[in-house]
Amino acid sequence: MAIDNNIVFLNGQFIPISEAKISPMDRGFLFGDGIYEVVPSYATRLVGFGLHIERMQNGLKAIGIKLNMGVDDWRNIAQNLIEKNGKGNLGLYFHVSRGADVKRFHAYPEHIQPTVFAYAFDIPAAPIADKKSVKQYKVTSTEDLRWKRCQIKSTSLLGNVMHFQQGQEAGVHETILYNQRNELTEASACNVFIVKNEVVITPRLDNQLLPGITRNMLLDILRKDGTLQVQERTISMSEVRTADELWLTSSSKEIAPVVELDGKHVGKGNVGNIWLLAQSLYAANKHHY
Ligand SMILES: Cc1ncc(COP(=O)(O)O)c(C=O)c1O
Repeated sequence: MAIDNNIVFLNGQFIPISEAKISPMDRGFLFGDGIYEVVPSYATRLVGFGLHIERMQNGLKAIGIKLNMGVDDWRNIAQNLIEKNGKGNLGLYFHVSRGADVKRFHAYPEHIQPTVFAYAFDIPAAPIADKKSVKQYKVTSTEDLRWKRCQIKSTSLLGNVMHFQQGQEAGVHETILYNQRNELTEASACNVFIVKNEVVITPRLDNQLLPGITRNMLLDILRKDGTLQVQERTISMSEVRTADELWLTSSSKEIAPVVELDGKHVGKGNVGNIWLLAQSLYAANKHHY
């Protein structure tokens, strides 16, 4: 799909992206004052849609944006965008900002309409549970220097962008983050899991990480399957560095195996068997969410 043919949704209308305009006084532009969501769809099938919309509603509530749109309204926008943009493998991006004010002033204005934007973009086919063909990730690590409200999927992403860029400059795919106590939080655009002695472990949810929908679905799928033990708990960076396997999860990556951390092999330096089981289970069950 060429980007200039892209039909997007802006404030109630489906229009070509070239015609989509917002005010420079929009608080999304001025302050990053908004909430966003990304939902994957494969050949028109949306994955985890209700969970994504629920997280977006939680985010809007947390920052006091009142928007009278329910899950069916969002589903309607998603289906229209999929229909109008080729029905392939598409990510749906939803963005609600507090709206356009008449001046730049920090306090929340009383009577402005939120700006609602959505568009579809191509995503790769869902990863196949195959150790040979799966993309192998390399990551670096650094202290998490973002804010203390990382559970909110805010459009203010400069902290994440700067951490992601550190990875780019180090020639790797992602940057995993740890707090001042040397405990794993997440990555700049993914959640993180480790595997040790066949136990799958991920940090518990708090204000230091996004409650990832892929994380949530994977934990649920693994618990229902029951083959592997699963833990949500504090993980020290020394545990990360001595893990048998390390994974990144996100809606577009699903479960991505990491083979190198800070220039050193993770486990044996190849894609692990527990990843294979987890990705197979995820692929078999993701459409139930
Ligand atoms: C900081 C951060 N953590 C985790 C995730 C993974 O979330 P999800 O699985 O809902 O895509 C993302 C996804 O964009 C993210 O930006």
